[in-house]
Amino acid sequence: MSVTQQSQTPPLSRRFSVAPMMDWTTPHFRYLARLLSRRALLYTEMVTTGALIHGDTARFLRHHPAEYPLALQLGGSNPEELAHCARLAEAYGFDEVNLNVGCPSDRVQNNMIGACLMEHPDKVADGVRAMIAATSLPVTVKHRIGIDGRESREDLYHFIETVAAAGCRTFIVHARIAVLEGLSPKENRDIPPLNYPWVYDLKARYPELEIIINGGIKSFAECHQHLQHTDGVMLGREAYHNPWLLAGVDSEFFGEPDPITSRHEALRAMLPFIEEELERGVYLSNITRHIMGLFHGQPGGRQFRRHISENAHRPGSGIEVVLDALAKVHQPAPSPAREAVI
Ligand SMILES: Cc1cc2nc3c(=O)[nH]c(=O)nc-3n(C[C@H](O)[C@H](O)[C@H](O)COP(=O)(O)O)c2cc1C
Repeated sequence: MSVTQQSQTPPLSRRFSVAPMMDWTTPHFRYLARLLSRRALLYTEMVTTGALIHGDTARFLRHHPAEYPLALQLGGSNPEELAHCARLAEAYGFDEVNLNVGCPSDRVQNNMIGACLMEHPDKVADGVRAMIAATSLPVTVKHRIGIDGRESREDLYHFIETVAAAGCRTFIVHARIAVLEGLSPKENRDIPPLNYPWVYDLKARYPELEIIINGGIKSFAECHQHLQHTDGVMLGREAYHNPWLLAGVDSEFFGEPDPITSRHEALRAMLPFIEEELERGVYLSNITRHIMGLFHGQPGGRQFRRHISENAHRPGSGIEVVLDALAKVHQPAPSPAREAVI
């Protein structure tokens, strides 16, 4: 990363972040998200310590310097492995390392990764302690308010206190329990009811900790409501399906000018990056599937998505597919006030 890029990176703030989402918060989605907001903190997809240590490390950690501030999310529980991966995160330029204690999939439970670790606060604390010793990056934990069988407030307090005693200052709390027996990961994001008051209570009880709330948040009005009780909001699905929402984050939550004034401008700003990626041999459809939400609810938005769905997967598809799709959406004339800002 060049010095210029470094000096342009805004300070890390967790007031507004985009959640880690496997297969969704890829470098391509994150690039778009960063064009829309300079200040939203972005998270990678979860990568397991095993994959990083034994797999193609450089591929798993690949990101564009434009994505900063960017947090790497790890899945794992072995302290030495977590420490090693935290060091890698620092070496590769990430701004934060986050430990996943919220993912309920069977696959990860067998390896002691994700939400099943809520049953083992000491193990999480050992991992966090090892990561803190290994890196100067902030180490944060993303977790649920409980898991089936361990869903009392006392269990949650015990979890937080044990992990905070290991040095963790920031807890990102998905405000529902995970049911490890009988619900799929997808069902686990919808069926257990949201319980925001418990997250608010954590902030009231541990004011010295940074508490970020996550789960089911869809609008800026809801964000402001949550920010009265917590230090930050994290949005997942809404940010992915309706990324244009991110275009208002800098003014709404940071009092700074928004970087982009129209969806068209955002996509045009992304074209050079798409071309670079195509030159590296990335299939167009692997990029475009993450921009499908950009014209959500706009006149011509459906035609935009249809054109991309029907054409981006064809062998040899290039940037012209994106340009033709873009021509199908109406470009609103910029308002005089907006023009003055530019
Ligand atoms: C497709 C998908 C993949 C996800 N992958 C991860 C992941 O890798 N790590 C993680 O901590 N949470 C993951 N989550 C959960 C989200 O980070 C978030 O906690 C959850 O979706 C609730 O927030 P939301 O209601 O704003 O979407 C994933 C969610 C979705 C929809």
